[in-house]
Amino acid sequence: MKRRREGCAVGIDLGTTYSCVAVWQEQHYRVEIIHNDQGNRTTPSFVAFTENQRLIGDAAKNQAAANPRNTVFDAKRLLGRKFSDPIVQDDILLWPFKVTAGVDDKPMITVKYKDQEKKLYAEEVSSMVLVKMREIAETYLESTVKNAVVTVPAYFSDSQRKATMDAGVIAGLNVMRVMNEPTAAAIAYGLDKRTDYGGERNIFVFDLGGGTFDVSLLTIKGTVFQIKATAGNTHLGGEDFDNRMVNYFVQEFKRKNRLDISGNPKALRSLRTACERAKRTLSFQVVATIEVDALFQCIDFSSSINRAKFEEMNMDFFNECVKIVESCLIDAKMDKSRVDDVVLVGGSSRIPKVQQLLQDFFQGKELCNSINPDEAVAYGAAVQAALLSEDVKNVPKLVLQDITPLSLGRELFGGIMDVVIPRNTCIPVKKTKRYITTRDNQSYDLIEIYEGERTRASDNNLIGSFHLYGIPPAPRGSDLSEVCFAIDENGILTISAKNNASGSSDVLTITNHKERLSSLEIKRLFKKLRITILKT
Ligand SMILES: Nc1ncnc2c1ncn2[C@@H]1O[C@H](COP(=O)(O)OP(=O)(O)OP(=O)(O)O)[C@@H](O)[C@H]1O
Ligand SMILES: [Mg+2]
Repeated sequence: MKRRREGCAVGIDLGTTYSCVAVWQEQHYRVEIIHNDQGNRTTPSFVAFTENQRLIGDAAKNQAAANPRNTVFDAKRLLGRKFSDPIVQDDILLWPFKVTAGVDDKPMITVKYKDQEKKLYAEEVSSMVLVKMREIAETYLESTVKNAVVTVPAYFSDSQRKATMDAGVIAGLNVMRVMNEPTAAAIAYGLDKRTDYGGERNIFVFDLGGGTFDVSLLTIKGTVFQIKATAGNTHLGGEDFDNRMVNYFVQEFKRKNRLDISGNPKALRSLRTACERAKRTLSFQVVATIEVDALFQCIDFSSSINRAKFEEMNMDFFNECVKIVESCLIDAKMDKSRVDDVVLVGGSSRIPKVQQLLQDFFQGKELCNSINPDEAVAYGAAVQAALLSEDVKNVPKLVLQDITPLSLGRELFGGIMDVVIPRNTCIPVKKTKRYITTRDNQSYDLIEIYEGERTRASDNNLIGSFHLYGIPPAPRGSDLSEVCFAIDENGILTISAKNNASGSSDVLTITNHKERLSSLEIKRLFKKLRITILKT
């Protein structure tokens, strides 16, 4: 009989393609990766809607080809993004489900459920995946689960982090922390190897998943994990490699049969599933076959692809990965020869060409394959969840010092980006900067907050703005405002501003983005989801 305990805290890796949940087992001094009802240790991040039910995970993915328009995946690629984002526009062309623009340019996923049209936010779809992961944990632990650490790509922006937190709230979870995925993986690696460490070790984590690519450089010294630098691309991963292969076979089918399947979601889904399988095979064999019965108009499709062809069609993606690795080391001011271990994380890190390019970059260094690339992130999140729970015993006492991935600042007169917190600064952090008036009798300060690395503010991502009014009349060059940037342990930003000159201390705080749901909306969605759970 497993032990019952109220309010267990779990770690959830909310992946683009697969999610994973884990828990620290104090009685065994180790993390347990929790299997789902199908016996699988990872669960597809899929949600499907049918005439009479809602399906999540394996059940949703398994019926995807029969119900492509109402089977939603890749929701993580929409989290915290606007509908008009060019990345979203490109993705929409490839998804079989419908996405339209909602209020404030938020993307809305449209599905048919119980014969009615429903519009869903990406946060809602992600919350359903989170509910599923919670249920998997509750079944295994035989207790309720309320608290969770949820992971995000290290390179996620402020709005993507907030959207992930909102998904947690809608799912009824208390999100104790959003944690960076490579940091979590580093714990899984470091915990395993801790006893071997004498001095300081430099660890490079390479995390290539289904939808995102992240790298982090950290040092482990005793129990302290200090992240030095991070870099990545929040839209690069296995899904992109699958897309290339799907396009390749769409062309081949066209040549062979003079028929275009690109407008047919059912055929595309069947082909995509076959392509993903072939891609996995190519990590272990040099040739893979593709067989899809009755792919289109009752025509069977049978073909093959070799590893060299797969590599050729994705070479630009693979080269980009290496470039990002290099930029991370440059940021950390560390020569690659000083890296002690290169740790592979994420399902796509199994691709031999990726491993070869990485090994070549690190001058022939052996890559570490000792941790499970699909489970390491949830593993680390479970350790963090236990560390944050007061009542959990036997947790290794680790100290994690993480950083912020993107520079944060405000626009100055003339459109220049004034960086207040540079990227790769340790978090939590609070920095205050004083500004002076640029005109005589200036009565307000328009504070526009941006994140990104470009020198012109408008080339970066505008994450919020507000006016600070009530500046007393004075010649130009007088006190205008004191703006405080605070980033918490989750990597989430709060801005406040005040004017000292007037003696008043107007403080304004923005935590809301346009891309973000309002707290009222979140409450409504939470209630709605609870009602549907009770009904199904
Ligand atoms: N043997 C393999 N060879 C190539 N690719 C693989 C292999 N095994 C899994 N993958 C790919 O890895 C991806 C899933 O990896 P993972 O579970 O780490 O990603 P994720 O957590 O869903 O995504 P992300 O972390 O980017 O949000 C899928 O695209 C899958 O096709
Ligand atoms: Mg992942």
